[in-house]
Amino acid sequence: MTTDNPPTSPGSVDDWFESRLHWRALMDALLHVRVPLEAKTFFFGGMTLFLFGVQVVTGTLLALYYKPTPEAAYDSVLFITSDVSFGWLIRSVHHWSANLMILFLVFHLLRVFFQAAYKYPRELTWVVGIGLLGLTMMFGFTGYLLPWDQRAYWATVVGTEIAGGIPFIGDALLVLLRGGADVTEATLSRFFGIHVLVLPLALGAVVAIHLVFVHQQGLANPTKPDPRPPAVPQGRTKPFFPHYILEEVIAWLFLLAMLVVLSSLFPAGLEEEANPLETPAHVKPEWYFLGVYELLKHIPWKVVGILTPMVFIVLLAVLPFIDRNPEVRPRKRPLAIALGILTIAVLIGLTIWGYYS
Ligand code: HEM
Repeated sequence: MTTDNPPTSPGSVDDWFESRLHWRALMDALLHVRVPLEAKTFFFGGMTLFLFGVQVVTGTLLALYYKPTPEAAYDSVLFITSDVSFGWLIRSVHHWSANLMILFLVFHLLRVFFQAAYKYPRELTWVVGIGLLGLTMMFGFTGYLLPWDQRAYWATVVGTEIAGGIPFIGDALLVLLRGGADVTEATLSRFFGIHVLVLPLALGAVVAIHLVFVHQQGLANPTKPDPRPPAVPQGRTKPFFPHYILEEVIAWLFLLAMLVVLSSLFPAGLEEEANPLETPAHVKPEWYFLGVYELLKHIPWKVVGILTPMVFIVLLAVLPFIDRNPEVRPRKRPLAIALGILTIAVLIGLTIWGYYS
């Protein structure tokens, strides 16, 4: 006999949810996927995701005390650092997690590049990934201004000036970013709104799209290209849950330990309060913008200096459509590997140069 009433006998938690939400099919689809035995992600993508989670949690806690006005911002950051219980730790973890997020994002991108995981069928996953790279950099840029100290203020003056040099749209973009001709209260409230509302929502949504794509395609096998239909993927696999997930969680715990150690040894600093009338001797952006900053100093034509990194990003985004070689093993892709190594060397060289100049 069938009945519409819920079961009355006590069952497992799993039964309870299944009878109400039919969640077994969902859990099977989400967790019970298989990973090629040869796949080596080094957990970089998942570590980037974890660091984003840390940013959301610590950022929410900071927002409880932070005040986004030029009169109050600096003092509120001082208050967080010296008066709020564990405020210094939360702020330092936010600072270090932001830096590590960029670092692991770059490691993730390089892993995908060297394993040729951007090729068929993962072209769109790569393109979406470049979007994530842009959003993450914007997080760094907008967050840098919030403490409203000398470094924050002048780095934003220079950064927005660079954006203002983009041909055709530069002037309008500068006013849009600053909320006027100069870096003022309007800039701070814009950057605050973008940093705590627009970017978290955008990054969250785009990460979700990225992960749906990864889920649908499965992880790439770095030893052989994916077969084109109608061929069926073959090869030895291991279960994603719990095997892969457990290893991933160990990587996250390692990151958590690293964040606490780095924050305790090198807490986030604060310079003098911003003074729009006093330009400091050296204005430097965060390390991940140093390469571009240095490039701009040495290219005599400003427009060329600004367009070079933009063209580079566009070329990077369309890489899967330019590189038509189906091979995935590094030995069979000498040109791509050589260009990749050359690009890394130039970027590291420019960054070190920017750091010491
Ligand atoms: C916030 C930034 C990002 C997050 C949270 C993220 C997350 C992930 C995760 C969790 C995976 C599964 C495999 C792994 O853990 O490595 C993955 C795979 C992938 N990601 Fe990302 N990713 C990000 C940015 C990027 C960027 C910048 C690119 C490249 C431009 C990219 C391209 C890819 C590709 C092609 C795959 C499939 C790799 C394979 O099948 O082996 N992702 N991503």
